Amino acid sequence: MFGPRWPGAEKAWTFLAPMEGITHPAFRALLAARPGLGVVCTEFVRICSTGLGARHLREQVVRAPGAALSVQVMGNHIEHMADATEIVAQAGADLVDLNVGCPAPRVVRKGVGSAMLRDPELLSRVVSAMRGRTRGWLTAKMRAGFDDAAGAVRSARLIEAAGANLIAVHPRRQVDFFAGVSDWRIIAEIKRSVSVPVIGNGDVWYAADALRMRRETGCDGVMIGRGALRNPWIFEQIDALVRGLPLPRPSGDDVLGHFDALAAMFGELAPGRTVGLLKEQLRYLCRVVPDSAELLRRTMRAAALPELRAILAERLAGERPEALDLGAEGGQLERSGSALAA
Ligand SMILES: Cc1cc2nc3c(=O)[nH]c(=O)nc-3n(C[C@H](O)[C@H](O)[C@H](O)COP(=O)(O)O)c2cc1C
Repeated sequence: MFGPRWPGAEKAWTFLAPMEGITHPAFRALLAARPGLGVVCTEFVRICSTGLGARHLREQVVRAPGAALSVQVMGNHIEHMADATEIVAQAGADLVDLNVGCPAPRVVRKGVGSAMLRDPELLSRVVSAMRGRTRGWLTAKMRAGFDDAAGAVRSARLIEAAGANLIAVHPRRQVDFFAGVSDWRIIAEIKRSVSVPVIGNGDVWYAADALRMRRETGCDGVMIGRGALRNPWIFEQIDALVRGLPLPRPSGDDVLGHFDALAAMFGELAPGRTVGLLKEQLRYLCRVVPDSAELLRRTMRAAALPELRAILAERLAGERPEALDLGAEGGQLERSGSALAA
């Protein structure tokens, strides 16, 4: 059975995953404006043991019309985490999310993120302290474990017992970083073991994967990170599959249009870093063409925006949807298409 519905679920059961350096307000707004996306998440806000920065926290609560907002906090200082929860909830976050998954060594060294999976007692105390300070949706996003996934269900149950209303699961361990493939069976096991809604996350690259994850694991919703950078239309494609509508099939010009929207956004946000920020997204966006390695190599060499734009335009302008890997499923590229013949 699917669990109770969370903010944003009335629009769609999809989440844009929190991504450090990527899911800033403008990017969230760009994707939320499209159909099919229920919740957008901020990247983690680090709550240090030294102090809180209430103003900085409030500034993270930037809503995007068209989707509910989840604000993620990361830390293990009980009082500060509780204070942070109250501040972001009062500032208008629809969901306050605890990061129990970040695998970065600089984070783990401080005993936060995925390291909290090694300290169940502290994890429980942090979640219940956060619970005590909001009546709204309190959520946690967890990995399957630190160096062992055997305790994944135990961690999820503990998070639920401490008062979380929803759990998002990225079924890799800290030691995996992003290696291998997410083990969706862990999502299914957790779904069977808790009563709060479970959101599945990990390696949803195509719209059909999201439906398959839901079918195979019973999860209530699906969270997508890198897949939405590669294919920013994935949420509306999922929506089309769910509703039985024709699948939106972006063309090369649509991809270029998305690139232009990103460029304009970064130009305003961080004029000195526009090219760097765009290149971060191109690592994924370039994968829509079958010769992506070559395109990526060329774009990474570009020094300035006009050059970068020209390289992309040369490859993508006028390209037909059938020649791009933006269908509902993988392995559907037109075999005789010009992209492959080239
Ligand atoms: C660049 C990048 C930054 C990330 N930053 C965060 C973060 O701030 N908080 C978090 O919980 N997860 C973070 N993640 C993990 C994603 O939210 C997600 O769990 C992971 O990418 C697996 O999902 P995917 O296969 O759909 O990308 C990040 C992932 C990437 C690629």
